[in-house]
Amino acid sequence: MPRNPTVVRTVPALRRAVDALRARKATVALVPTMGALHDGHVSLVRLARRRAQRVVVSIFVNPTQFAPTEDFGSYPRTWKEDVAKLAAENVELIWHPEVKAMYPDGFATRIVPEGPATAGLEDRFRPHFFGGVATVVGKLFTQVRPDIAIFGEKDFQQLRVVTQMAADLDLGVKVIGSKTVRERDGLAMSSRNVYLSPDERRVAPTLNRVMKDTAARLRAGEDTAAAMAEGAAAITQAGFVLDYLEVRHATTLAPIGSLKDGPMRMLVAARLGTTRLIDNIAV
Ligand code: PAJ
Repeated sequence: MPRNPTVVRTVPALRRAVDALRARKATVALVPTMGALHDGHVSLVRLARRRAQRVVVSIFVNPTQFAPTEDFGSYPRTWKEDVAKLAAENVELIWHPEVKAMYPDGFATRIVPEGPATAGLEDRFRPHFFGGVATVVGKLFTQVRPDIAIFGEKDFQQLRVVTQMAADLDLGVKVIGSKTVRERDGLAMSSRNVYLSPDERRVAPTLNRVMKDTAARLRAGEDTAAAMAEGAAAITQAGFVLDYLEVRHATTLAPIGSLKDGPMRMLVAARLGTTRLIDNIAV
């Protein structure tokens, strides 16, 4: 029988619950999420379970990483289902603060990440995003003080940003990346996939298919610029409005011209109707 996780909603209650979890020096893993949990999130929880003795999942739709024009108000919220999924994984603790508990009146401090946060990928289209992510993840790390934290490769630039922040600020948290979980047709799972109409859902796997084809061409030695231009054209032709399709150095996210220059990651962001999808793969 799965045991119901403890749910805490205030910082003092969180501190008490984390102190209890840490009794007898148990190791603690944190999995930060915004809820609307799918199998991708569950895979992070399972990796956390393998790497630490206690698992804390945070569920917080973080307003500071949404622009006023974005979907903060309508972001899917599925609290009951989320708790059931986490109970089934035997998660010990759910940290579910109110916005006011995370950002009390008068809150005036932000973390401003640079390096991978200014690589010219997501930051070019969502300039507010990584400041919001770094600030909330910095707070989550100091609130929970986990030994490790698990993030998905699905949000590859975000994974680089939080890894760099944890190191730069000596937060003492080891950030671990976890593989992207996909639907059978290759579409990366995302809480935002529920926004897709049936027609858009049929087209959505094109993103992953084009990336896989293009990566294979690069590995076969084709010219990078030509292969990338054809990939971009194929995505546009399928009906997407393309924000970017790029190859970057897999750790620094610096532009990279060829596989000879280091490990390569291909990253894409594109809009289908009103839904913005992102994905990435190793080349
Ligand atoms: P959210 O989009 O809920 O994602 C929570 C975590 O799940 C992130 O680390 C994300 O990379 C991972 N994830 C999402 N889809 C995945 C998939 N298909 N396979 C594997 N992992 C996947 O990312 C955020 O929330 C927020 O920015 C957050 C880090 C919680 C800060 O607010």
